[in-house]
Amino acid sequence: AAVVEHTFHVGNLTVERLGQSQVITAVNGQFPGPKIEARDGDTVVVHVVNLSPYNITIHWHGILQRLSSWADGPNMVSQCPIRPAGGRYTYRFNVTGQEGTLWWHAHVSFLRATVYGALLLRPPPGARYPFPMPHREATILLGEWWNASVVDIERQALLAGGAPNNSVALTINGLMGGYQLTVERGRTYLLRIINAALNYQLFFKVAGHSFTVVAADACYTDPYDTDVIVIAPGQTVDALMRADAHPGRYYMAAQVYQSLANATYSATTTALVTYQRRRQPPSLETPPPPVMMPSMPAFNDSATAQGFYASLTGLLQDGTPTVPLHVDTRMLVTFGLGVTPCAPAQTLCNRTLGSVAGSMNNVSFQFPTAMSLLEARMRGAPEGVYTRDFPDRPPVMFDFTSEAASADSAVMATSKGTKVKALRYKETVEVVLQNTAILGAENHPLHLHGFNFYVLAQGAGNFNAHRHVRTYNLINPHQRNTVAVPAGGWAAIRFTADNPGMWIMHCHLDAHLPFGLAMAFEVDDGPTPDAVLPPPPPDYPRC
Ligand code: C2O
Repeated sequence: AAVVEHTFHVGNLTVERLGQSQVITAVNGQFPGPKIEARDGDTVVVHVVNLSPYNITIHWHGILQRLSSWADGPNMVSQCPIRPAGGRYTYRFNVTGQEGTLWWHAHVSFLRATVYGALLLRPPPGARYPFPMPHREATILLGEWWNASVVDIERQALLAGGAPNNSVALTINGLMGGYQLTVERGRTYLLRIINAALNYQLFFKVAGHSFTVVAADACYTDPYDTDVIVIAPGQTVDALMRADAHPGRYYMAAQVYQSLANATYSATTTALVTYQRRRQPPSLETPPPPVMMPSMPAFNDSATAQGFYASLTGLLQDGTPTVPLHVDTRMLVTFGLGVTPCAPAQTLCNRTLGSVAGSMNNVSFQFPTAMSLLEARMRGAPEGVYTRDFPDRPPVMFDFTSEAASADSAVMATSKGTKVKALRYKETVEVVLQNTAILGAENHPLHLHGFNFYVLAQGAGNFNAHRHVRTYNLINPHQRNTVAVPAGGWAAIRFTADNPGMWIMHCHLDAHLPFGLAMAFEVDDGPTPDAVLPPPPPDYPRC
């Protein structure tokens, strides 16, 4: 096992996009940021130096952070921010039992719009992939671009009650149309696809080519053949692509998927897949063939989106199922967006419309201000920082698919609070996530920090225990860290709370995090010294 060490200088970078120059926040003057490559078993050490004018934290999205909750990164959950103008913090964590594609990103305000990069985990020395070795690999970071400071965009989103914060373009590896992947005919390429967009679930295709999906969120899947990849913000997909088409040039394209039938925003971005051409004397050079564009699904093609997720199954390493069959705690968590009146002291709030509140079980999550949740946990004195009364069930049950229900004020009533769900060490938890879709029928990608979970089943409409528990896959469900819960639909997930710390679960549409579409799990230390969260590192940022 090696130590993989990086220094991240976070600062201003001026870039030209769409004929305009824009000052962005970036790491080491690179956009997208530096790629981190490690092997299972390695220790990753990243020294962050914040030279930007903003508070910064960095999150290692999908890293399990076993016994290193201090390095997880969400602002005011695992740490106070690294202060502007020279603040520093060293993130240190081990890669334990993880292989595949993950990523890192800022986890404070909207800064992850430009502060992100790939985090690639390879098998340990001597070990192989559970699929044929690809000839080469390519990282495909899908993102969004604004012709404005993303900090201003966030203020505007909060003031206007959520909208409009549409980006002006989608990007592939930070570019609009400028990225090119060169392939050799007959070879197989491993595409490591990451959705780093703030707002949009995406369809991804390459004209004339199909894929074999082999992993999602750095969890191996059974090989799944498809010509379209569906990827929500926060998710990753590892897919093999064989360069077996007629040598030429092909577009790869990412396009917004919106579950709303009447969605008005749609965008597509492209990059090139080019076959290497044999060298010819100039007299024999032929002009390059025309570029083929893939035929994309309709922007609201939910059948394709849900079909993709439903087709994924987990790869069983030695044929043995690993899903916990005994469940200690069952939760039903309804979530979505609603509106609450502005609080008297609330500055970023539209006085007429009120503020958009995201909630889970009708609690809109409030980030603490005095210290992080994790620091309060360590002090054993959560008083004034958080309470342990996150409800296991919503206060009012109703039919989420009925129009009348949306008008019911009891259903909408949202309280504010910093409520966590306390879990014993190694408790097994099943959470049915029900997307209420009362305001804004969107898919919400829910991301859990600190764990991979099994996706046992998902579906449209109301979750119904009698009908749906029977459909659970308890043999080989796929595992991931971010599940796109369909608008007005549900997903059932299960995990074992074997990692002491404080772990946020939240919507990975970035505007929904400040709206409070979040909750947190507080996991106890275990009975033995090797299951106890150590004290924070000496340079741990305090508020
Ligand atoms: Cu990728 Cu809490 O985020």
